[in-house]
Amino acid sequence: MEPICKLLVYVTLLLLPVSILSLPECNFPAVFNFGDSNSDTGALVAMFGQAAARPPNGETFFGSPAGRVCDGRLLIDFIAEGLKVPYLSPFLDSMGTNFSHGANFATIGSTIRRQNTTIFQSGFSPISLDIQYAQFSNFFKRAQIIRQKGGVFKDLFPEEYKFSSALYTFDIGQNDLTAGYDLNMSTEQVKAYVPNVISEFTTTIKNVYDLGGRAFWIHNTGPVGCLPYIMDTQVITAAQVDKHGCAAPFNDVSKYFNRKLKEAIVQLRKDLHLAAITYVDIYSVKYSLIAQSKKLGFGNPFLVCCGHGGKYNFNNAMRCGSTKIVNGTEIMIAKSCEDPSSRIIWDGIHFTEVANRWIYSQIADGAYSDPPVPLNMACHRKDDLRRFYL
Ligand SMILES: *[C@@H]1O[C@H](CO)[C@@H](O)[C@H](O)[C@H]1NC(C)=O
Ligand SMILES: *[C@@H]1O[C@H](CO)[C@@H](O)[C@H](O)[C@H]1NC(C)=O
Ligand SMILES: *[C@@H]1O[C@H](CO)[C@@H](O)[C@H](O)[C@H]1NC(C)=O
Ligand SMILES: *[C@@H]1O[C@H](CO)[C@@H](O)[C@H](O)[C@H]1NC(C)=O
Repeated sequence: MEPICKLLVYVTLLLLPVSILSLPECNFPAVFNFGDSNSDTGALVAMFGQAAARPPNGETFFGSPAGRVCDGRLLIDFIAEGLKVPYLSPFLDSMGTNFSHGANFATIGSTIRRQNTTIFQSGFSPISLDIQYAQFSNFFKRAQIIRQKGGVFKDLFPEEYKFSSALYTFDIGQNDLTAGYDLNMSTEQVKAYVPNVISEFTTTIKNVYDLGGRAFWIHNTGPVGCLPYIMDTQVITAAQVDKHGCAAPFNDVSKYFNRKLKEAIVQLRKDLHLAAITYVDIYSVKYSLIAQSKKLGFGNPFLVCCGHGGKYNFNNAMRCGSTKIVNGTEIMIAKSCEDPSSRIIWDGIHFTEVANRWIYSQIADGAYSDPPVPLNMACHRKDDLRRFYL
């Protein structure tokens, strides 16, 4: 073939990623999620009580606190809706849980690495990623024993085949970075331990694979330098503020984390031959939301909906839902804004439901994924997709 013809064929193929859509859908019968507050649907509240997600959390969609740090649904809830499975029950919630379509191991404040502090000292959850895996492993084994026994619990646990055909979703790492900042470490010091964090992340993916997990949907970490929580508690010079108002050195560490994660995933695809691993660039989606805030009608992207005082309506000592006793009556000081759907950031750290919905709309078709497969096709391996996009 003449080089120019060859080129034309390549260009034509490149313009036709649509042919990926001719592949069969995966019909994931279950979802198992691992993560932190970005995807906890009630675990930390089940363990430590309501304080972690007190009112007005949950007000927009659930009408009352629903174990989530958000006014409504989280990204994992929109993912569940998209895959047509019910919202995920937390593994740690013993009340009214139905695990037939999966389970959620994420907890608010989880890190990948174990922290050397208790939750009462630092706020980080004791349920680090290795513990989430230990719980999953326990769940995996006991689910079959319970199903074999029969009786009332049988139908609340997944059939064995669902474990190998499920989608395994991960959204964790942000707290490993903020844990260092909370200890007054410099961005360079935090960067220095990132390879160790990624290595532990990799270990868990391999462990899930060894138990039969095959389809992995892995979110990278978001731009923490755009969160009021970081911008209000850290020292940031004017020269360090980027063109959209975020703290560049902190975002640089997140980008470094993501680069290392992506490298680790390239290696995992070589090591785990049967795994379909989709890397989802949540960083770019969240950053683009902040960059387009005005165009999308949100105005100032950093103005927190639920908070009190300060430059961003955020005060770390008086976070969303904080109350004060006035004349013997408890009144809420850090209240919700009039219209949560007009803001991107819910409480200084987490996104609002409307932001989560927008993020879902951006990632669902694979536009931010490597390989670029839609959510419902994430069981297809990158190697098997190459013929569609070279
Ligand atoms: C559990 O959830 C499944 C849907 O995933 C549903 O079909 C089933 O009826 C539920 N079981 C109970 C006992 O609620
Ligand atoms: C916890 O302490 C051990 C021993 O000093 C250290 O190796 C490890 O890195 C620490 N973990 C974290 C997350 O700081
Ligand atoms: C970090 O620095 C702040 C401000 O100097 C100080 O109040 C805080 O105690 C320090 N935290 C740690 C863990 O050293
Ligand atoms: C508390 O009660 C005192 C005495 O009744 C009253 O003067 C004051 O205004 C009250 N404060 C608030 C904030 O309602």
